[in-house]
Amino acid sequence: MSSAAVLCGVGAYLPPRLVTNDDLALRMDTSDEWIRSRTGIGRRHFADPGTATSDLAVEAGARALKSAGRDGADAVVVATMTPDHPCPATAPTVASRLGLTGATAFDVSAVCSGFVYALATAAGLIATGVARSVLVIGAEVNSTVLNPDDRSTSVIFGDGAGAVLLRAGTDDEYGALGPFDLGSDGTGAEHIMIAAGGSRGRGSGAEPAPGDQYMAMHGQEVFRHAVLRMSASARHVLAQAGWGVPDLDRVVSHQANQRIINQLADDLGLPRDRAVGNIARVGNTGAASIPIALADACSRGELNEGDRVLLTAFGGGLTWGSTLLRWPRVDGV
Ligand code: COA
Repeated sequence: MSSAAVLCGVGAYLPPRLVTNDDLALRMDTSDEWIRSRTGIGRRHFADPGTATSDLAVEAGARALKSAGRDGADAVVVATMTPDHPCPATAPTVASRLGLTGATAFDVSAVCSGFVYALATAAGLIATGVARSVLVIGAEVNSTVLNPDDRSTSVIFGDGAGAVLLRAGTDDEYGALGPFDLGSDGTGAEHIMIAAGGSRGRGSGAEPAPGDQYMAMHGQEVFRHAVLRMSASARHVLAQAGWGVPDLDRVVSHQANQRIINQLADDLGLPRDRAVGNIARVGNTGAASIPIALADACSRGELNEGDRVLLTAFGGGLTWGSTLLRWPRVDGV
């Protein structure tokens, strides 16, 4: 009989440097009023120069292990769009720095949907018996890919890492993940893209154009797709589970824009106050946003044992994904 993946620990780490909207307005043509009203973001954390994604991932991973009362895992999966290097993956470094040399370790690349993709991948590792426990980490140093001349991306993104520990268990336990829905639409690949640094750019033999090392985004297209895709994906897992929308106690969606979060709730017909999150305090932390929001909600008492919780994400690719769980007894660290 295959095992279910059961969430048993959650933790997050934010680099200490706080950057307010007013700080950004000192160096680009924007304002606290514009950013708050268009995105709901009030501030974000930026890593100090020299800090890499693995540095944040190790801190968050250690906290998730502590939350679970464990000192190790059989596998480490890191979801990120800002890996330490194009090669090798970031996860083996993270595993070794956590004292887990020898563990199964690899990265998942699905941009802001990466954490939900990584949860499904980790559930597969547990179902196939490859691992009895998996540390799933979302981590980003987004500040390294923000174009200082692009105010539409610079005001949205922040840095951070979040992690959960999954263990083998049974699907009737609180914390058991599933069903899952994952999807993609590569015809929208250009809507969120870092053009340089891959084989497409290098293979052309041409020097990267100025700015190609930074993320470019078509904000309005992304906004429209985000609401539609997360809503359809959420309905899909709810139907598979036999849950109705009113059954949901909490929605923890990718923290991209407060207006997206609100429209998603409206589209689903769910009261907005069931959507918990922390975008006002951390911005969009990419693949880290759902586990950071989970740790935050947990420590603020916004997630209680037995709550029916929807996790749903959307990101570059385009990609999207959702899953469900009954919230387990767990302390966020
Ligand atoms: N400060 C001040 N003005 C800004 C601005 C900023 N940071 N960014 C854009 N503007 C301006 C634009 O130049 C434009 O001015 P104009 O009307 O004079 O041309 C105006 O604000 C409206 O721009 P628009 O792009 O239509 O704004 P918007 O309401 O769509 O908000 C985003 C822009 C990026 C905040 C919004 O599209 C968004 O959040 N999209 C989704 C992004 C996302 O979630 N990405 C990650 C997904 S994983």
